[in-house]
Amino acid sequence: MTVETVAQGANMLPLNEILAGDCIEVMNSLPEGSIDLIFADPPYNLQLKGDLHRPDNSRVDAVDDAWDQFDSFKVYDQFTRAWLKAARRLLKPNGAIWVIGSYHNIFRVGTALQDAGFWILNDVVWRKSNPMPNFRGKRLTNAHETMIWASKSEGGKYTFNYEALKELNEGVQMRSDWVLPICSGHERLKDDKGDKAHPTQKPESLLHRVLVGSTNPGDVVLDPFFGTGTTGAVAKLLGRNYIGIEREEAYRKVAARRLGQVRPLDAAALQTTLSKRAQPRVAFGQLVERGMLRPGEMLVNPRGQAAKVRVDGSLVSAEHRGSIHQVGAALENAPSCNGWTYWQFKRDGQLIPIDLLRQQIRAEMHD
Ligand SMILES: C[S@@+](CC[C@H](N)C(=O)[O-])C[C@H]1O[C@@H](n2cnc3c(N)ncnc32)[C@H](O)[C@@H]1O
Repeated sequence: MTVETVAQGANMLPLNEILAGDCIEVMNSLPEGSIDLIFADPPYNLQLKGDLHRPDNSRVDAVDDAWDQFDSFKVYDQFTRAWLKAARRLLKPNGAIWVIGSYHNIFRVGTALQDAGFWILNDVVWRKSNPMPNFRGKRLTNAHETMIWASKSEGGKYTFNYEALKELNEGVQMRSDWVLPICSGHERLKDDKGDKAHPTQKPESLLHRVLVGSTNPGDVVLDPFFGTGTTGAVAKLLGRNYIGIEREEAYRKVAARRLGQVRPLDAAALQTTLSKRAQPRVAFGQLVERGMLRPGEMLVNPRGQAAKVRVDGSLVSAEHRGSIHQVGAALENAPSCNGWTYWQFKRDGQLIPIDLLRQQIRAEMHD
């Protein structure tokens, strides 16, 4: 597949629409290699037998819908393998997928993902801060669901906004266990009778984290099991494009109404902290060209040793010459050195890291 084919495919996409029908058939009708991210919340195949009641005898509104029922594990596996195959065809080479499930299905889905050629990046445990109790008291409270995050293939250059997720987590690297409440309160959509519009509506907070961490504004996010459209609602808010596929008309209606009420955030609110690698490259020579440092000026290392700045942006010390990195490494007798964090210059008697000048240039580029 050429880059051109990918671009043409993307142009033919029904962006920001809810498509009716069976997700395998609909996915097979969409152009190959056109989707950036798939978020899938497939049937869990819960295999519930009989009604479930609380200790006060009230009936638990469990997932007993026809769409969640399969005759056997074999039939469920066939379905899983078929939709994963269709999903993988749609992904761009650097695309990725998230699949959410519970102990009922996630191990089967994990095997099928690997067999289909996906490359698992992480499994994320969504720990529910307010889970439903185990009413029969016969097992542990089922307090989490598992999400598998996988790239299309091994070596795929999937999107990962490391710094943005770190910011979301108050400056600490994001872990693979996420504590978030289940969907309730005003977020929980109701039907005309005031009952839950859908039994398995996911919380927007979960999708917020997934989409901020693994997509960029303008990306195309497909959800083949759209339900109430949680993926679409968060994608729209975050300036991403969505495509939803849902078989049941009642759910499509709920999702369409919900999406109509979402207003995308403005561009300034959508900017996130860039990873160091994603920031524009600034050569040390630019600081000299722009007069931020003068040729002939001395830089100082942490041990007080000095090196002179030359007109081409190289440094010369008593014994060494080369780039800020090379002279730093030579003075430290080390294989490498990050010159940006190693050297300082003097202004008004104060030592200032040269990296501050680089940040100044980057900020201007950003503006
Ligand atoms: C677990 S729910 C998804 C809920 C959704 N994440 C939300 O937040 O509302 C799965 C959905 O997939 C739909 N579905 C099941 N099998 C399908 C199929 N083969 N094609 C399209 N939709 C399907 C069901 O009708 C159901 O709404």
